[in-house]
Amino acid sequence: MSQEIAKLEIEGKIIEIPVITGSEGEKALDIKKLRAETGYITLDNGFVNTGSCTSAITFLNGEKGILRYRGYPIEQIAEKSNFLEVAYLLNFGKLPNSKEFDFWQEKVTSFATLPEGITNIIDQFPKDSHPMGVVASVVSSLAAFYPEFLDAPLDSVQRERATAQLMAQVKIIAAYFYRRTIGKAPHRSHPSLGFSKDFLNMMFYEEGKEIDDDVAHALDVLFMLHADHEQNCSASTVRVIGSSQANVFAAISGGIDALWGQLHGGANQRVLEMLEEIQNAGGDYKKFIEKAKDKNDSFRLMGFGHRVYKNFDPRALIIKKQCDIVLEKLNIQDPLLDIARGLEEEARKDDYFVSRNLYPNVDFYSGIIYKALGIPTDMFTVMFVLGRLPGWLAQWKEMKEDVAFKIARPRQIYIGERERDYVPMKERK
Ligand code: ACO
Repeated sequence: MSQEIAKLEIEGKIIEIPVITGSEGEKALDIKKLRAETGYITLDNGFVNTGSCTSAITFLNGEKGILRYRGYPIEQIAEKSNFLEVAYLLNFGKLPNSKEFDFWQEKVTSFATLPEGITNIIDQFPKDSHPMGVVASVVSSLAAFYPEFLDAPLDSVQRERATAQLMAQVKIIAAYFYRRTIGKAPHRSHPSLGFSKDFLNMMFYEEGKEIDDDVAHALDVLFMLHADHEQNCSASTVRVIGSSQANVFAAISGGIDALWGQLHGGANQRVLEMLEEIQNAGGDYKKFIEKAKDKNDSFRLMGFGHRVYKNFDPRALIIKKQCDIVLEKLNIQDPLLDIARGLEEEARKDDYFVSRNLYPNVDFYSGIIYKALGIPTDMFTVMFVLGRLPGWLAQWKEMKEDVAFKIARPRQIYIGERERDYVPMKERK
């Protein structure tokens, strides 16, 4: 098939630009040679319209509300799979057969204990530290305890081991720190319980009490829904850091920090805080809708809107269902849920939100589930970290295996002062 070409006229000269077509028919202009041929670059603040790579991991179509991991629709994944299997799928490109899954599970299990030096580090953090900062710092510190993985960018066997290690240990780090903050002894990891039940057990272990299987399953679904979302802010951060051949711990730690921001993963904490604020102000959510619409007010409706989904977020629909299951199972009547439902209903009728395609995103209902599970609000974004971890690792691995990969180094258009002479201090006004 002949290469499709687009034409661009610059300063009277016609430039031919190769068109790249993805497997779902998505089109891109390959502008690699644009600067060399014309002296021009493209300017795209926030990378709204820029493809930073080709990728075979996740497909999403924001207009149609489609999300697929390695071709499998998120709805089928959420109904039939489990989080550790999804981690395998994202990282190795296929659903594992039972032998492959057992082998993967064994590998993850082999890292089910933290080095003593790491627990010593966690013990030094003040108990009121934000857990996102703790998890990011401790993940970065793992580099000191696993020097054999520092070459993982270049070594596929070590890459696979590092992936299993992080899948096993990030959840232990999070639970270990949580138990320290509530003055309880750490509870060891039992990976045979399954990823989510093991995590809940490490968090909330009490003699004679067992974690409910349906509740653990609901958390597993939440983790699966968060597992990857192509080139979002944190995944791009992981790729940018990893592109310099920095070690995997540095790349994942950077991804965690990027996720922390309230416009990204930090939104789930902010949603719950917003719902509580509305509740404390008497529950009048309509007032908050007006605030969100007011351009002189910086308030935004947290958990609403998405850079890519401009119709609906398919994950939000599944989460809403899980939210009902968890609240019913735990027999919880949460007035915040009524506020959330009221807000959603009101916003979806309001022209401001409708005309801007602002719908509830993945974070809108997840906080209510986390709250019902007993997860403290400042750990909500850590839950997102646990869910997104396999996606970051898969993005990092894919980049390392791409023969065409280059260090990430965007350009800019300089708008500062032109050349001027240095003025000695005594002559300055
Ligand atoms: N509340 C009120 N107005 C909003 C909201 C909101 N939540 N989101 C967007 N808008 C408005 C903007 O003010 C803007 O209005 P204008 O066209 O009149 O200027 C318009 O909608 C477009 O908004 P942008 O900020 O340009 O959209 P962008 O794609 O850059 O941002 C984002 C997407 C960051 C998610 C935004 O919708 C937002 O801030 N949402 C709240 C935070 C949130 O829930 N983040 C989680 C995202 S999902 C995730 O990361 C997992």
